[in-house]
Amino acid sequence: AGQSMWGGRFGGGPSAIMQEINASIDFDKRLYREDIAGSTAHSEMLAAQGIISVADKDAIHKGLTQVQREIEAGQMVFDPALEDIHMHVESRLRELAGDAGARLHTGRSRNDQVATDFRLWCRTAIDQLDAAYKALLTAIVDQADTHAGAVMPGFTHLQTAQPVTLGHHLMAYYEMFTRDRARLSDCRKRLNENPLGAAALAGTSFPIDRHQTSDLLGFDKPMANSLDAVSARDFAMEFLSVMSIGAVHLSRLADEIVLWATSAFRFLELSDGFSTGSSIMPQKRNPDAAELVRAKVGRITGSMTGLMMVMKGLPLAYSKDMQEDKEPVFQAVDDFALCLAAMTGMMIDLKPNTKNMAAAAGLGFSTATDLADWLVRVLGLPFRDAHHITGAVVKAAETKGVDLSDLPLKDMQAIEPRITADIFTVLTVEASVSSRTSFGGTAPENVKKAVGAARETLK
Ligand code: ARG
Repeated sequence: AGQSMWGGRFGGGPSAIMQEINASIDFDKRLYREDIAGSTAHSEMLAAQGIISVADKDAIHKGLTQVQREIEAGQMVFDPALEDIHMHVESRLRELAGDAGARLHTGRSRNDQVATDFRLWCRTAIDQLDAAYKALLTAIVDQADTHAGAVMPGFTHLQTAQPVTLGHHLMAYYEMFTRDRARLSDCRKRLNENPLGAAALAGTSFPIDRHQTSDLLGFDKPMANSLDAVSARDFAMEFLSVMSIGAVHLSRLADEIVLWATSAFRFLELSDGFSTGSSIMPQKRNPDAAELVRAKVGRITGSMTGLMMVMKGLPLAYSKDMQEDKEPVFQAVDDFALCLAAMTGMMIDLKPNTKNMAAAAGLGFSTATDLADWLVRVLGLPFRDAHHITGAVVKAAETKGVDLSDLPLKDMQAIEPRITADIFTVLTVEASVSSRTSFGGTAPENVKKAVGAARETLK
């Protein structure tokens, strides 16, 4: 059957191995909707320009509608001899619409056709991922709102640093994921240009109207250079890069969920919906969903580097290498969408153990910086001196085996005689977070404000 598409100058048919390495239908059938939309717009334009008759255009449209119906009903027989989705659609169209169907490919090539289909597919995928992000961000903001004042330890080097609030911690991910979402929308803007009408590589002598097909397909404008239009895959590499960054961010949150659910931390309980049991250890509740979100980033960045390696060193214009552009993107989109959905589910179900978090927040002398700040504010010491004195106070508390807030005043005064009992007002974790009112700081009132602004943005 492939012979009927391009076999004019061929004597024998392709070998079975040639067919196997050449065929892309197994994966590019996912482009059928976009392929039919592209052909519908192309034929509409051909008729408007008087290149084909209106009767032929009507027959093509009727045929394409029928082909789409057949594919969606699972009636299309996919045949590797027909290579790809473009030939499957066209060949069935020719059965249905005869000569009219055979006129569809006027002023067009599979090179501009596949670039058009793939851009349209990525555009839809981006819109779906954007909606998924919105759901995730909403779940994060809801939890941050509920836990705006819940104190937990903030870490650097995973060592207790200063108390923060859980709401603030979650809103940090809100910011990160919001930038990821913005990167998706930037990527969409850049990819939304129309390659159709570049034909094989040089344009065409037919009086086509690329602005019309752009409008019909919702592209912002036709791509300016026909060689670039059929050669460029940076839209796919950019999309994969954006998903890779997004997946890295999801893996960081996933890792914290894994860590927080350990019996050493006990910061949260995993929900039944997003954990599994062990077949041998009856007490176990494993954070499989979080672990798999943490892991999927490997596949997604693998897809990104895979496509980069395919594209590296390719001369202009089209080379068959570029047929290998679709699987990595399809796979990454599937993985990434699943990660977003799983993370949203975990976030909705999140049950933080705020008691344990608050207790842990006080460990490790987490209010030492507050003590140093008091020495600066009240005694007027330079911060470096205050830092040194505080270090000595921490050492005294450590030697006694008590928290800073339980160290007797006279022990502190032995180190710095001007310290007064007022110091104890800053040594609790609640006082510590409440005092962090600087712009972007962890104070509960700041978190509430950030939550309010986020809710506006998400509307
Ligand atoms: N299946 C091909 C692809 O995915 C379509 C373009 C084929 N073009 C060609 N000149 N053989 O890239």
